[in-house]
Formats: sequence, C-alpha cells, structure tokens
Amino acid sequence: MEKRVVCTAATVAAVACVVAVLVIRKRSKGIKWGKVREMLKEIKLKCALPIERLKQIASAMETEMHAGLASDGGSKLKMLLSYVDKLPTGAEEGLFYALDLGGTNFRVLRVQLGGKEGGVVRQEHKEVSIPPHLMVGSSHDLFDFIAEALSSFVASEGEEYKVPEGKQRELGFTFSFPVKQLSLSSGTLIKWTKGFCIEETVGQDVVAELTKAMERQGLDMKVAALVNDTVGTLVGGRYEDGDVVTGVILGTGSNAAYVERASSIPKWHDELPKSGEMVINMEWGNFKSPLLPITEFDEALDFESLNPGEQIYEKLISGMYLGEVVRRVLLKVSEEFPIFGDIIPPKLEAPFILRTPQMSAIHHDSSLDLKVVAKKLKETLGIHNTSIKTRKFVVDVCDMVAKRAARLAAAGIYAIIKKIGRDTLSDDKQRTVIAIDGGLFEHYTAFSDCLERTLRELLGEEVANSVVIKHANDGSGIGAALIAASHSN
Ligand code: BGC
Repeated sequence: MEKRVVCTAATVAAVACVVAVLVIRKRSKGIKWGKVREMLKEIKLKCALPIERLKQIASAMETEMHAGLASDGGSKLKMLLSYVDKLPTGAEEGLFYALDLGGTNFRVLRVQLGGKEGGVVRQEHKEVSIPPHLMVGSSHDLFDFIAEALSSFVASEGEEYKVPEGKQRELGFTFSFPVKQLSLSSGTLIKWTKGFCIEETVGQDVVAELTKAMERQGLDMKVAALVNDTVGTLVGGRYEDGDVVTGVILGTGSNAAYVERASSIPKWHDELPKSGEMVINMEWGNFKSPLLPITEFDEALDFESLNPGEQIYEKLISGMYLGEVVRRVLLKVSEEFPIFGDIIPPKLEAPFILRTPQMSAIHHDSSLDLKVVAKKLKETLGIHNTSIKTRKFVVDVCDMVAKRAARLAAAGIYAIIKKIGRDTLSDDKQRTVIAIDGGLFEHYTAFSDCLERTLRELLGEEVANSVVIKHANDGSGIGAALIAASHSN
C-alpha cells in the first residue's frame, strides 16, 4: 500500500516535471529572441563608453573641479573644504571614539592608538541598523537613536577605559552626506542623499544636533572632528601607506576626497595652512554632464527618486541604484516580450526590490545551468521556471549596468589623477595610491575588476604601473578617530 502511494507520488512529480519543461520550451519558443537581443543591443549602445568618451567625461569632471574650487556654487561639484590640513603622522596616541553614519547601518568604534611604534593597538566596534522610518522621520528621533547606541556602547565598556577625572571622551564623527564645514568640528547639512530625507536637518549643524542628543542621554563626549567617509578613508589609508592621495567610496552612495594644494583653492580666503595642503571632499555623486550615458531607465529612476535632478553620477554608479536600473530594464523588456512568461511578474514592478547584492550574485553565477540566477529570480522576483536563454539574458543585463558603472567610476578616479598631475610619470617614479572602500567595490568583483582594467586603459600601461588601488577596509571610522586624535586637546 505504502509502496503504491510512493509510486503514485513519484509518477505525479515526473509528469509535473515533463509538463513544466514543455511549458518552458513552449514559452521560450514563443519568445522572439532575435528581437529581444536587438532591443538589448539598442540599450547597450546608449550605455556604451568607449575610451575616448571616458576621457571626455574625465575632462568635463576636471573642469567642474576647477569651477567648484574657484567659488561656492560655481559648479555641480561642491568641492567642499574639509578643514583637514594635517594628515596622520603615525604619532597619534590615546583612546578615541568614532561614529560612522552614512547608510542603512551605522557603526560606533573605540580605537586605542599606540603612538609612533604602536599603530592601532586595539579597536572594537558595534554595528546598528537604522530603522527605515528614522531615515525619513525627525532629526530629533534619528540623533536620539544614534546617541542612545553610542551611550550603551560606552556604558558596557570595562574599567580599563575609564576616563580620568576632568577629561572628556573625544569622538570623530563620520557623517557621509554633503556638509558645508564651518570648522573641523562643525558643519551644516547641505542635503540628504541615499534614501535619507529629513527636511528639518537641512541647514542645521549636525555636530550640534548630535551633541544635544548626547546630552539628552547624559553622555559626556566631545565631537573633536566632523568628517566625510571619503575623508576618513583617505586619512585611514594614509596612516597605512604614505602614498595614499585619494579616498573613494563605492558603496550605497559614491564620492571621493583628495589632497589638494591650498594655493589651488581660490575660494579659500583664510590664512594658508602650514602644510600647504587641504583635503577636499568633492561630492562627485552630484556630477552631471551631457556626456553621461543616460537612458530612459535612468531618467525614470531619477524622476521617481527622493532627490530628482540631484546626484546623477551617483545614480549611475553606486550600489543603491544598480539593481534598480537592472529591474527597470527587465521590466521594460518583459512588457514587450514574454521573457518571464505571459504575464509580467508582479514583483518585478516593485521599485528597489532587486538590490545590488542580488544582482551581483546573478552576475557572478558560473554554474553551467545558471542555477544561482534561477534561484535569485525565484526568491527575489517570484519568477519560476526560467529557461537558460532567459537566465543568460538577465546576466547580460547585469553585465551592461555594472560595466557602465565601473567604467564611469574609473573615469572619475582618472579625473582626480589628472587634476593632481599624477597622469604622467615623475622622475622619481612616485607611487600614487587610491584607497577605496564600500560594499560595491568590496563584494562585486566583476565591477571592481572592470574598474581597475578601465583605469589602466585610461592611464596607459606605463603610468598605470605607478598607480595602486588599495581596498581600505573600514578605513573611514579609523580615519575619523585619527583626525580626532591629531586635533585633540
Ligand atoms: C554622499 C557623500 C558620501 C557618499 C558615500 C553620497 O551620497 O553625498 O557625502 O561620501 O554618499 O557614502
């Protein structure tokens, strides 16, 4: 009896399998693949970035860099002064805290710096995810949430961290949004990016907001430095390697900071710093140029975003948006051809349902039958029973979107290298090191490989040999602590 039941179940499963295969065959037969590929070819043409075009984009960015340095409001590139005019020497010493806010998670860190020979003696951190409603709620609630996490981090530390009577704990605050710095330890928010939108914070000094929230928590801590994550990455990178000149973030958002000669900053009217240098936070995410390969998908994404017309370069290259561009392309194709069956999968219509990590998993699938692609399509978009052709097509779309992003990001780095005159070989064969951090760069190998290849192509083999790209793992938090240390009382 039992055997018969098993037998019947097996037969039903086998029949179902045959039927499913037939249905898929029939569906994919119904798809005019020639036409589908033609449609993709047209989109690819719009996304194409031959090297000459990339060089023009880099030149356009360089021109904007000059304009942004000449006057406030002179360019879409804000070229913000960071007030960091001393880079770490390695002699920084003591216990410092850092708070890193810039995406859906924030981190609190405790860093023990050991001076000349000691380096980073000890570091501990805690990561907290920010509830989505706080990203679009009130300033008070957001800063209270952060200060509370910081306060509980401090409350749980051991006796060895007790601060002597009369001395205050000091904090480097990495705040990864465009800020007009008023000094090293104060600055007003210009605008939110990356899905944050709290109108009342715009124009406010974010250090004052944090300080008030810490006071409400009874936490006695002083914000010694306010830094952008790119500035933190540059400084953290320089601590490890004296040839680091640029910090780049390729994560949820994107941006770069670099060391500029103070005399090349016409909008800087104060006394020139002793070092003769100043770190500039470019806010390159806001770069815009008619040379950028903008498609109808990017236009629609921008139009429906929280910040239409803003952060156009960021929307082409950063992790927050790449999966969403892929979703929009797939949706459009599936509206014209039944690549996912006769009805458009409802989940495919939901904005931001396809995140960049899923896109990366799809793109990197090396199995013969692309089973990861099948799994991701099923889990993320509710699309079942895809044919190999459909899966390959989806990979192809990811490839197009990721390569466009990586090539554009390489053009941005090339623009900085040109601006600081490192695009030709110096007599002393000076190394130029670019410190890069961010999940997109760290985890999306096809993206980072393409970026590095493209940068070599732009620089030419000989100069490329003097340029090194380094992954600066979590450098921005340490960088903020280092800046706090070098400007500590
Ligand atoms: C922000 C920058 C930040 C970058 C990377 C952008 O959206 O405007 O300030 O550095 O994201 O986190």
